[in-house]
Amino acid sequence: MTDTLEYNPTAPRPIEETAPLVDRNTTNPMFNDQKMKLGLFGTNCSYGLIMSHAPTSYEATWKHTLEIAKRADALGFEALVPVARWKGFGGTTNFNGNCFETYSWAAGLAQATENIAIFATSHLPTVHPIVAAKAAVTIDHISGGRFGLNLVMGWVTPEMEMFGGAQRQHDERYAFGQEWIDYVNKLWSEPGSFDFEGKYFQGDGVESYPKPYQAPRPAMINAGNSKNGIEFSARNVDFNFASLDTLENMKAYTAALVDKAKADYQRTISPMTYGLVVCRDTEKEAKADFQRVLDDGDWGAAGNVIKIAGSGASQSFDHAAKKEFQGRFIAGWGGYPVVGTPEQCVDQIQQLNDAGMNGMIMGMIDYNEEMKYFGENVMPLLKQSGLRH
Ligand SMILES: Cc1cc2nc3c(=O)[nH]c(=O)nc-3n(C[C@H](O)[C@H](O)[C@H](O)COP(=O)(O)O)c2cc1C
Repeated sequence: MTDTLEYNPTAPRPIEETAPLVDRNTTNPMFNDQKMKLGLFGTNCSYGLIMSHAPTSYEATWKHTLEIAKRADALGFEALVPVARWKGFGGTTNFNGNCFETYSWAAGLAQATENIAIFATSHLPTVHPIVAAKAAVTIDHISGGRFGLNLVMGWVTPEMEMFGGAQRQHDERYAFGQEWIDYVNKLWSEPGSFDFEGKYFQGDGVESYPKPYQAPRPAMINAGNSKNGIEFSARNVDFNFASLDTLENMKAYTAALVDKAKADYQRTISPMTYGLVVCRDTEKEAKADFQRVLDDGDWGAAGNVIKIAGSGASQSFDHAAKKEFQGRFIAGWGGYPVVGTPEQCVDQIQQLNDAGMNGMIMGMIDYNEEMKYFGENVMPLLKQSGLRH
């Protein structure tokens, strides 16, 4: 008798599992019908969205990130989006320097939550598509179809240099990203095995099982706002996140993005934004706490971010590098601030929605404490306003 364990790579083999399992509209809240989706951003790394020594109990520990995630889940938020960071930004805070790796962070939170979508933020040049596709699928199965991938090209040159290769030029990063996501999509959908012949990746007899839990694939987001970024988003992802200065500019941006996806790629895409939310009983308190973030700001770290962004590495933050908007880096990582009483915050979120934004991922000075306040004081008003049900 021949040894049945002998390995013959060309022999036809049974396919373990042929299709994705469940329609993602039924598993992933990113595809629900809430008019204004809500998420938290940056709860996996030190100082979250504030480059500041302003007082907070927040720390980038597993205990905190888990507790915050559970609060967001219990409040019916749609998304937890982490920051991918390999090196801090220096200054007196070494801003974001203490940062959990995001696929493993997402896996832990997927097991610990019930309904919320959990994202990994993936610097595409740092992870091979075969590894990324399988890590993503694993988290998708852990979460029962609530996983999502934030695709980032790696604009922060000093941290990309940690990986040894030369940093690609801005536009080539997107060409690389396109091939990366084409490969991952194939790994998620192609039955059996295939050969991959690309410019950046080649592989023979490639296969990947299991397939994603949610069909047709996990949610995908990208936050490029440059010409290439918008093109990449329109072609590939479900959600684009924009860092923009004014509501007027948002209106023009969101309309153009949606039109482009439809006209050029026959796709729908949903624009979203982010920023620091400071909601207090009185306007005076809210403004004072926001100002405190600026007064205690780490301008060294902000200066380093602005220097890297201004070198042409990112075209998303051009507005925030302008003098009058630099505070937005300190207070919200360049995002759009929402500050005031619960009523005022809801009005401002309404304005974002009117400008075409279908969701906001928020930073908070003290996520854990402020989520309690947000749940009690802001969520009911969001429901009254019709932005949420
Ligand atoms: C909501 C949001 C999340 C982002 N997360 C990260 C991140 O975690 N790591 C990172 O290096 N860049 C991150 N970025 C940067 C963008 O993904 C983008 O690559 C960068 O702004 C350059 O894009 P562009 O020059 O094409 O506009 C984020 C941007 C936004 C708006």
